[in-house]
Amino acid sequence: MQSQSFNEQEEKKFKDTSWDFCNEYTKSSNHGFHTYPAMMIPQIARRLIELYGKDKKILLDPFVGSGTALLEATLNKNFKKAYGIDINPLALLISKVKTTSINPQSLWDEYHKLVKKSLEDKKNKKIAQKPDFFNIDFWFKPEVIKDLAIIKQNINLIQNKDILDFFLIAFSETVRDVSNTRNREYKLYRMNQEMLKKQNPDTLRIFREKVKENIYSMENYVKEKQKCEVNILAEDTRNLTSISANSVDLIITSPPYGDSRTTVAYGQFSRLGLQWLGYDKNQVINIDKISLGGIPTKDLKNGLGSLTLKKTLDKIAKIDPYRARDVLSFYVDFDKCIQELHRVAKKGAFMCFVVGNRTVKGIQIPTDEIILELFQAKNHYKHHNTFIRNISHKRMPKLNSPTNISGNHAVTMNEEWIVIIEKQ
Ligand SMILES: C[S@@+](CC[C@H](N)C(=O)[O-])C[C@H]1O[C@@H](n2cnc3c(N)ncnc32)[C@H](O)[C@@H]1O
Repeated sequence: MQSQSFNEQEEKKFKDTSWDFCNEYTKSSNHGFHTYPAMMIPQIARRLIELYGKDKKILLDPFVGSGTALLEATLNKNFKKAYGIDINPLALLISKVKTTSINPQSLWDEYHKLVKKSLEDKKNKKIAQKPDFFNIDFWFKPEVIKDLAIIKQNINLIQNKDILDFFLIAFSETVRDVSNTRNREYKLYRMNQEMLKKQNPDTLRIFREKVKENIYSMENYVKEKQKCEVNILAEDTRNLTSISANSVDLIITSPPYGDSRTTVAYGQFSRLGLQWLGYDKNQVINIDKISLGGIPTKDLKNGLGSLTLKKTLDKIAKIDPYRARDVLSFYVDFDKCIQELHRVAKKGAFMCFVVGNRTVKGIQIPTDEIILELFQAKNHYKHHNTFIRNISHKRMPKLNSPTNISGNHAVTMNEEWIVIIEKQ
């Protein structure tokens, strides 16, 4: 079954068109509210929506992260509903704020009150209560802690929940900027002594600039947002979700690249922000463990229907059986997600996966082929296309430590594969 308005000619045209979007601006609309590791660039979500979402009404991003696909759905007039799922509370908060339109005047009013009060508190050397988390003094200088505590205390005075969340996002972004972490990295590494000596951020100014930037974006978003209801779900895509069966007609997503221990550590990236926001310590610490592939499998036995995966695992296991188990654990979990995506998708639904084919022990893992084989092993799916693109924008590691020894790096991914399948 193929949807009426789906245009194969148009799809063919995009086979020969570049998907790189080199040097294009990626922070339009609310896309620049908060950084997040391995963000999808809006141009990809937009093009996929245009190409595969013409007659579609309900979109799902089952690994929503910072909500790029969801935000694009709310800017498109087709969609009635968009769902986003994630296990990381920071991802859920960012996605919610980016897709909630708020009267900009109310934001400016709160902004002026908040800045005035925070400057006064600072001038009067008021001591606001700092959060109590392990190593706070290692990650932040004393003056920074004082300023962040003042800002946070004043944000907490905001009554309206949507406005409160809006300011919390700017605050979380500020936390990362003013911390002692090496800022362009997604894992938590402390600055060296020389960098630390120069680290003397004007916390209030950084926060103010961030809020202003976000309010300017919101001024445009309220005009551009279409009538799409957004549902952000704090659920796990491996399990039965609250989405009804056979309801979703377009999935656009970029799943994690592999287990968070050896690829992107979303939990580590989010830790300082979430701790300052007051999230429960155990919840914050466990994010990477409960991510796909967080717990290695006991052995290499598996009933997954991908021959490509089997061959790849055999090659890696010859060099390092333990790393092969890390790799397998990710696909075992991913296969559980496939069951759930199959359940919620309508017949004729398109699914678009943006994946990276990472390298482990010098062996490239063709995730694009593996995903396709896993879907087709149990159910009927038509493979439409696999587009390949060069990565130029992403905040993600181009280098990783394949032996897990610090300083021993290899190039991992400079390309992404966009796999398009249709549920038959
Ligand atoms: C590559 S990121 C998504 C980035 C997103 N496309 C964006 O533009 O920001 C993958 C996301 O999958 C989430 N994730 C990992 N395991 C999950 C699970 N079991 N269920 C739902 N989300 C999960 C991670 O927390 C992370 O936010």
